[in-house]
Amino acid sequence: VNSKTAQLIDLHEQAAKLYHHILVNTEMGQPALDYLHNRGLTDETIETYQLGFAPAQRLLKPFFEQRQADYQLLRQSGLFIENAQGDLRDRFTERVMFPLRNASGHVAAFSGRVLKKSDDQPKYLNSPETALFTKSRLLFNFDLARPAIREAGEVILFEGYMDVISATQAGVRNGIASMGTSLTTEQIYAIERTTDHLNICYDGDTPGQRATQRAIGLLREHSHLDLSVIQLPEGQDPDEYRRAHGDEGFQKVMQSAKETPIRFQLRYLRRDRALETDSEQLDYLNEALPLLAQVNEPVALDLYLNQLATEFHLDKAALVARLKQVRQVDG
Ligand code: CTP
Ligand code: MN
Ligand code: MN
Ligand code: MN
Ligand code: MN
Repeated sequence: VNSKTAQLIDLHEQAAKLYHHILVNTEMGQPALDYLHNRGLTDETIETYQLGFAPAQRLLKPFFEQRQADYQLLRQSGLFIENAQGDLRDRFTERVMFPLRNASGHVAAFSGRVLKKSDDQPKYLNSPETALFTKSRLLFNFDLARPAIREAGEVILFEGYMDVISATQAGVRNGIASMGTSLTTEQIYAIERTTDHLNICYDGDTPGQRATQRAIGLLREHSHLDLSVIQLPEGQDPDEYRRAHGDEGFQKVMQSAKETPIRFQLRYLRRDRALETDSEQLDYLNEALPLLAQVNEPVALDLYLNQLATEFHLDKAALVARLKQVRQVDG
């Protein structure tokens, strides 16, 4: 670790402490603390994740100036916005602060959430890319989750910060987040170095389902990970599920809602399809069979074929024959 990196990390860790102090010990932080409590987080969880608050009044600049921090270092930290005159202002204001730790557990960046959703502000504002932070490489909570991932022999991949944090509070500690719906190959390689089984648990809304479909393809292409999909009820994200069903309900669904990627993909193919006319049904079957052609396990394959045959009142032998053709074409 060179000294500049160490200094940048030091800045971030001091900033995290300050934001956390504002949240838990000051009048200014009270609305944000109420917000987090209303979202069902305990003080212990707030402590574990060192959540914080950046108030309207810009605090970081005077804080670091008092400590005579180096101007160039502050510039490079991403914690400030620079105007044309070269003046620095705090980047984060009026946001709940989520420290983003790197794989070694050091704070490398922040994400700040607005207290109230509005149209003219992004819900989450992240640090820009810096010497410490490349968004496509970082996995939220990977440092804290690693022992639990090793113990469980599997990891759960969520979309968001609050999903991971909510899971941890429910006692499910092997969760990490891709910080949005665009999982990257760098993130996949990092996961693969720690475990061989990945459960995708993205949001139950349309973007989450689309991202699940995309992630399955990417993971198959770039890893040897065993995959499962944890399917939540339509429209709910994992944090919302815990709020609706409690910690035990959450633990249960993480175990019981697991399905194979093929099962997920078959259902995904059906989204927004009426499947009423012959041609709609044939289109569906023609897209479903190439999926089944990837199933190497005979019992699983038989199960899916039986289900398709029953559902569409088909002769299973016809499906098997068609599957053979598909497999020959694919080589
Ligand atoms: N995200 C982001 N910037 C945004 C929106 C989302 O970086 N403007 C990332 C965040 O990591 C967020 C994740 O994408 O946690 C998932 O987005 P979304 O499902 O919209 O948010 P939630 O995590 O559900 O946030 P909350 O529960 O706080 O509303
Ligand atoms: Mn504390
Ligand atoms: Mn989402
Ligand atoms: Mn969500
Ligand atoms: Mn959410």
